[in-house]
Amino acid sequence: MKRLFLAIALDEDLGRRLARVAPGFEDECGPLAVHDEDDLHLTLSFLGEVDEGDVPGVIRSAAEEFRGLFAPELQLTGELEMLPLGSMQPRALTAVVSEVVDGAGRLHALRNRAQQVALSRRCAAYRGDRRREFRPHVTLARLTEAPPQPHGELDSGLVRTWTGAEVALYESIADRADGGRRYRQLESWGLAIAPH
Ligand code: 2AM
Repeated sequence: MKRLFLAIALDEDLGRRLARVAPGFEDECGPLAVHDEDDLHLTLSFLGEVDEGDVPGVIRSAAEEFRGLFAPELQLTGELEMLPLGSMQPRALTAVVSEVVDGAGRLHALRNRAQQVALSRRCAAYRGDRRREFRPHVTLARLTEAPPQPHGELDSGLVRTWTGAEVALYESIADRADGGRRYRQLESWGLAIAPH
């Protein structure tokens, strides 16, 4: 079995910058297991455990669903959130992502197509994923303990827009020394760039 998900990949520069953010927030979050820059992504749909033999079908389905879709214009406002929101024991420090107004709808179209892959390939995680509110984010680190104190708004100071030009099928692998996971791209697809 492989643990799979579909996500928007980040460009190298953005990954590098975002990977530097989390270590500055241990006062607010407690000890953090920080993701490597290559592991950062924006999840569109969590597929869960998939039989190895079904992976080619998932790849074919994703290629069909993503064909012809436009790349969303995305933005980071600097805002960070611990997810799940309002939980006494949040599990992740995340950078909030939204779609630049001009391109409204492309990110959600991608999310819908990614969920369609999960549905059509009968992925076990589809129901749970569909029930969860879609809060676009990049997870920067996992919290390893409950956060020490109430905190105000968390701001990374990293404000940027970027074009989410690549979607990918990732495998989640549990072989980090700290018990965390790293992510490996199995296949990726370029999205159409809209003329300005
Ligand atoms: P997260 O970043 O909010 O934790 C691989 O685990 C990716 O799939 C992560 O980006 C994770 O989102 C996402 N994901 C969504 N639902 C999940 C679930 N039920 N279990 C594990 N990961 C999930």
